[in-house]
Amino acid sequence: MRTRGRPGQRTREDRAALVANRHGDDTFAYYAAKYGLTPPGEEAVTDDPPYGDRWTTWDDSTAGERGPQPYPDWVVTELGAVDTELGILKTGKEADVFLVERSVPNEDRGTIMAAKRYRDPKHRMFHRDDGYREGRRDRESRVNRAMAKGSAFGREAVAGQWARAEFDALNALWTAGVAVPYPVQILGTELLMEFIGEGDGVAAPRLAQLRPEPEERDDLWDQLAHNLELLALAGFAHGDLSAYNLLVQDGRLVVIDVPQIVDVVGNPHGREFLDRDVRNVGAWFVARGLDPARVDDLSDALARDARLA
Ligand SMILES: Nc1ncnc2c1ncn2[C@@H]1O[C@H](COP(=O)(O)OP(=O)(O)OP(=O)(O)O)[C@@H](O)[C@H]1O
Ligand SMILES: [Mg+2]
Repeated sequence: MRTRGRPGQRTREDRAALVANRHGDDTFAYYAAKYGLTPPGEEAVTDDPPYGDRWTTWDDSTAGERGPQPYPDWVVTELGAVDTELGILKTGKEADVFLVERSVPNEDRGTIMAAKRYRDPKHRMFHRDDGYREGRRDRESRVNRAMAKGSAFGREAVAGQWARAEFDALNALWTAGVAVPYPVQILGTELLMEFIGEGDGVAAPRLAQLRPEPEERDDLWDQLAHNLELLALAGFAHGDLSAYNLLVQDGRLVVIDVPQIVDVVGNPHGREFLDRDVRNVGAWFVARGLDPARVDDLSDALARDARLA
């Protein structure tokens, strides 16, 4: 049991309001058990933080499980910090994204992060594992066998591999200067990253939700082209690019959902992956009036950047 002082910022009533929407089903209980959150009633008899909170997991991640240095100044590294679940942002096909606040008790210092929690394959709605996972076999044969058998342990390992793949991709892309959320840390099947949105926890809209005027549309296209060129120069295609995997915060385009990025140089179908990404997201822009020639131009430019043309 860890003893580290109790959070003093929120009252029990504040917390009750925050967690009120978590009582509907057993989702919270499941996540509480898996991610170390205090379940109802526990705080009265143990030294754990209040219901829905946990001690910061920052020190549970090793050096290779934390984002690139220098850490941005908003990253809370204090060992006495507390993580508070603020609610679910979105349930996706293969992961759920939660809002987590990491704050230092009795200090006016805290930050909101997005926690992407991968589901084990049995609880997914769609499998992108086959194909993409090739070559990503775990060196440990016990893990391989468990994964092949689809046991609970094996399924957990697959979810962990996806979380790790996305964390590594975010690291590589952040370092290459691509506009992606800063990857704070990875722990098992949970990836903590920069929250793209307002300080009050309202997430940035997906590109697909916007109806931009021509001028804004062209600006977003230019930002997209710039980011995809940085990706291509680093040898990658996104692999699942669409107007749903791009967020727009105050006019700034941010690329998300990157666990499947493709090494276009090593992959025999590299050029096809580059083209498909551009085609998919290009169709959205063309439907909103973008000159189709610009889509073809971008495909050609990316192939050159990745030295595939
Ligand atoms: N860092 C973030 N900041 C704000 N919102 C985010 C962040 N990451 C993800 N989201 C929100 O959660 C949604 C799902 O995230 P993501 O696309 O990474 O997961 P997914 O499992 O692939 O979901 P989907 O099946 O919807 O594509 C995003 O569309 C976005 O609205
Ligand atoms: Mg997505």
